[in-house]
Amino acid sequence: MKKISGNPYIIRKNGKIIIDSLPLDDLIEKFETPLMVFLENRIRNNVKSFNDIFNEIFDNFQCFYSMKANYLLEICKIISSEGVGAKIVGLPELKLALKVGFSPEKIIIGGPYLPETLIDLSIKNKVKEIIVYNLNDLKKINLIAQEYNWVQNICIRVNSQKFNSNLGVNLSVNNINFLKKSIESYDNIKITSILSHFGTQMNSVDQFEKNISSLVNCLNLLLKYDISIKNINLGGGFPEATVMPTKKIKDIAQNVKTILNKSGISYDSISFEPGRYFVGDSGMFVTKIVNVNEDRWIFLNIGNHICPKFARCSLRFYNASQINEPHKYKTSIAGIVPTDQDVLAKNYFFTKNLKEQEYVLVTNTGAYCLTFSNRFPYPLPKIVLVKDENCIPIFDPIIDKDFSLI
Ligand SMILES: Cc1ncc(COP(=O)(O)O)c(C=O)c1O
Repeated sequence: MKKISGNPYIIRKNGKIIIDSLPLDDLIEKFETPLMVFLENRIRNNVKSFNDIFNEIFDNFQCFYSMKANYLLEICKIISSEGVGAKIVGLPELKLALKVGFSPEKIIIGGPYLPETLIDLSIKNKVKEIIVYNLNDLKKINLIAQEYNWVQNICIRVNSQKFNSNLGVNLSVNNINFLKKSIESYDNIKITSILSHFGTQMNSVDQFEKNISSLVNCLNLLLKYDISIKNINLGGGFPEATVMPTKKIKDIAQNVKTILNKSGISYDSISFEPGRYFVGDSGMFVTKIVNVNEDRWIFLNIGNHICPKFARCSLRFYNASQINEPHKYKTSIAGIVPTDQDVLAKNYFFTKNLKEQEYVLVTNTGAYCLTFSNRFPYPLPKIVLVKDENCIPIFDPIIDKDFSLI
């Protein structure tokens, strides 16, 4: 028994690929390609191992699933049932989170664009926190909270100081004074948390250390102005669970704690907002080779419209029709969008013989693929959820038309 793509839920057994406990051949027999497959047990496993590590190291750890990574109803239901909260960026996601059953006191909402309709629904539902990227939003939130006779908890997203990031509040003297004045004059908001998100696909412990160190600097600076914020949120940025071993997550948790302890900062809770880590390696495409060129280029029946580069997935490719053959011959893999830019991988180690109609498994496509997918005029794939030896369809373009948010 050998893991495929380092994933304990995709294995090779007696020369066959088994998805959880279901033979891939069964899926191929039943469904057309391209087919998108999600692994329920892998999601549950990822959520549990992440939470176990942080709960062991921190007394008051909170976790919010970054729903933009994958907002399929069934996927969100699985994550919600594991007891974590939700991090949301817009109104459609908020409606979905409420429908899925995330409790409002575990929903945090925020992003660079906070329309009044979003603030209104958030306050009406008494969500845990609204995250502001722009201090001017405080006035808007205060006004709406006033109408509801409610004091809204606020998280300030600070600029993580990475490269030339434009996201989040820069703690300049002007901005701190502005924040202080807002705190003094607005009775219907309360600054409860501070957030810094450093980036995506962060493979090294060092990047997480930089993030917490930058947050500690922010907290110390704010304290000089008598602004004390008690809850720390470090955003997301973890790679797929198959890419980052749990030992490294433990190191991250431990090092974050050590930096916080050394800083002397007192804090009530610490949270993360993982997206990719929970769902990235739970998703895969079953595709077919539709064309083979002489110079070892193959074309799959997916492309950047449904598996976009923007998603930054750690894509892995396996010739499912020749899974027992060595994958050690450089092959380039193109998609079916009619542009030379539709390249999925260059010089990727693949099987020696390349044949049209063979099946190719593309792993680690669970996060951001659907989010960033676009409207290129090909049919959307069917999507199924596999658990143990069972498989249920969760999206059929003929019936459901579109997996986009309500
Ligand atoms: C503020 C914030 N939190 C969490 C996330 C989720 O990131 P990831 O899926 O890389 O964990 C993002 C992604 O951009 C983000 O901007």
